[in-house]
Amino acid sequence: MRLNRYLAQCGIASRRKAEEFIRSGRISVNGQTVQKLAVQVDIRHDRICLDERLIEPAAERKYILLNKPKGVITTVDDPFKRKTVMELIPGIPGLVPVGRLDFDTEGVILLTNDGELNFRLSHPRYKIDKIYLVTLNRPVNAADLERLKKGVNIGDSRPARASNPEKVAGRRIRLTLHEGRKRQIKRMFTALRYEVTALRREQYAILRCDDLKLASWRYLTREEIVKLKKIVGFGHGNSR
Ligand code: URA
Repeated sequence: MRLNRYLAQCGIASRRKAEEFIRSGRISVNGQTVQKLAVQVDIRHDRICLDERLIEPAAERKYILLNKPKGVITTVDDPFKRKTVMELIPGIPGLVPVGRLDFDTEGVILLTNDGELNFRLSHPRYKIDKIYLVTLNRPVNAADLERLKKGVNIGDSRPARASNPEKVAGRRIRLTLHEGRKRQIKRMFTALRYEVTALRREQYAILRCDDLKLASWRYLTREEIVKLKKIVGFGHGNSR
């Protein structure tokens, strides 16, 4: 296969951008810089790199969106033999959850074997939006909604904040987090003297699973993958 076609197929860049990478000497085949577009490569045996990073065929990367039910742990293996999210989805090598939800939390969880995307989505720098629907043991008051916005001391080195906390009905509120500290929402409400009686993640970045029953999954659409990559600055025009 022609090198420029292979690069485009791997999803590292558009065909035109891939040609720029080749011309500017950023692509190597088996350790040798290659600057000719028409070079033929054997994709089963040749080691093709962009800036010394191996380029793998896009077809091998999988992106699964699961509507996690309660009673399932978000890890690949559980030493206590509790049911894991992996038991609800197809067995795909290298697939891991992006971040985590507690055992008793429901909702959107992404699983992928795309290590670079997972790394970037999990990096605090990108402040990915995570929207939660929280049910409390009693109605929240306006002063506490303000406290959530300003920051609540949960015993860490810095306060934990929520964006756009809004009362939905009675004991329910919706809020957005931009970080993913352990049991963050429960700890924030404990600090304000509430108890979280149910927790559902409604959205992760642009991903929602309103179309999925609890414990069901689907592959992301091409459009969702492109949007996610764009949010964390990788994909077209970038290094992949
Ligand atoms: N905050 C929590 O307390 N639990 C979760 O599962 C997610 C956010």
